[in-house]
Amino acid sequence: MRPDKKELMELLSTKGEENLASLYKRAYEIKKQFVGTTVYLRGLIELSNICSKNCYYCGIRSGNKEVNRYQISFQEAMEEVKLCIDFHYGSIVIQAGEREDKPWIDFITKLVKSIKELSDNKLGITLSLGEQELEVYQQWFEAGAHRYLLRIETSNPELYKALHPANHSFAHRLNCLHLLRQCGYQVGTGVMTGLPGQTIEDLANDILFFSDEDIDMLGMGPFIPHHNTPFKNLIDSFNPTEALNLGLKMIAVCRITLQDVNIASTTALQALHPEGRELGLKAGANVLMPNITDTKYRKGYQLYEGKPGLNETAIQFQKELEKHIYAIGETIGYDKWGDSHHFFKRKNEKTL
Ligand code: 5AD
Ligand code: SF4
Repeated sequence: MRPDKKELMELLSTKGEENLASLYKRAYEIKKQFVGTTVYLRGLIELSNICSKNCYYCGIRSGNKEVNRYQISFQEAMEEVKLCIDFHYGSIVIQAGEREDKPWIDFITKLVKSIKELSDNKLGITLSLGEQELEVYQQWFEAGAHRYLLRIETSNPELYKALHPANHSFAHRLNCLHLLRQCGYQVGTGVMTGLPGQTIEDLANDILFFSDEDIDMLGMGPFIPHHNTPFKNLIDSFNPTEALNLGLKMIAVCRITLQDVNIASTTALQALHPEGRELGLKAGANVLMPNITDTKYRKGYQLYEGKPGLNETAIQFQKELEKHIYAIGETIGYDKWGDSHHFFKRKNEKTL
């Protein structure tokens, strides 16, 4: 059922500690009912910060000449994959800036095939590599990737225009989401909350967009201004508590209304609060993406200010993570893919 816009706006406008607590509680009940309290882990490899795009909000945009660009080698990437297998994470996410050149496309294909081989088909693979041609999405799907994340950033085309240079197209991004669906991927998207110029109505429309597009997975996080972007003037007035609350509210309202989708508790939440990740789980998220990128590369992948975990090794993180998840009474779905329930529901309905 399509959510009601007025109700979405009311829920997103929740204020005051008590009201917020009951919103999160309601979302948590729905999470328990539809997806349970097992957290699924996806080891995240930030494969390269080379990006052909120049999104105004992003710290690794092509226009930022102060970033040292890197690309992790095949061997290094496979070492990180081994770590993921040793940790029993069940799935891996390969994320990078956007590139459409053939050497890159073939590099990804080889990597995906090798991950499947090394893990004896056991690791689930999610890609987050931006806008590509249908043939490329197909090639990667056939190589063994089965989920793809491509954030729409905002479902408001006018706001999208204000956040991107003229040669970045909302319509093209939307079309890419459709191509991904056509290939057979579980499709994930998401938005940033608290963007300059964004209203509560925009966020309500974002949720309607997720519903209309029948999205399987969501990755959303608060916008955090970065000093080397055109939005650096927003750093002084940035309020981390407000940004955190809006990000958590968006997770909760998505869980309440979309019910059976996978929702990630993203790193941007943790950048704003030491327990941001757990708060995300308490507000309705059910997926975490621990960063397994070698620490020597992490400084290069700062999309926003204050990104946490720059020096924390994957092993240190793993020990901490387990403690924190158990402490809120949840379990970890080790060695499980933890696919989106929504995806299977849609597929079954269509084949009936
Ligand atoms: N604050 C928060 N999230 C950001 N992203 C990019 N820049 C920022 C920022 N300043 C997010 C975008 C993008 C994802 C890779 O990171 O949503 O899709
Ligand atoms: Fe590139 Fe993504 Fe950053 Fe845009 S948001 S500049 S596509 S890494």
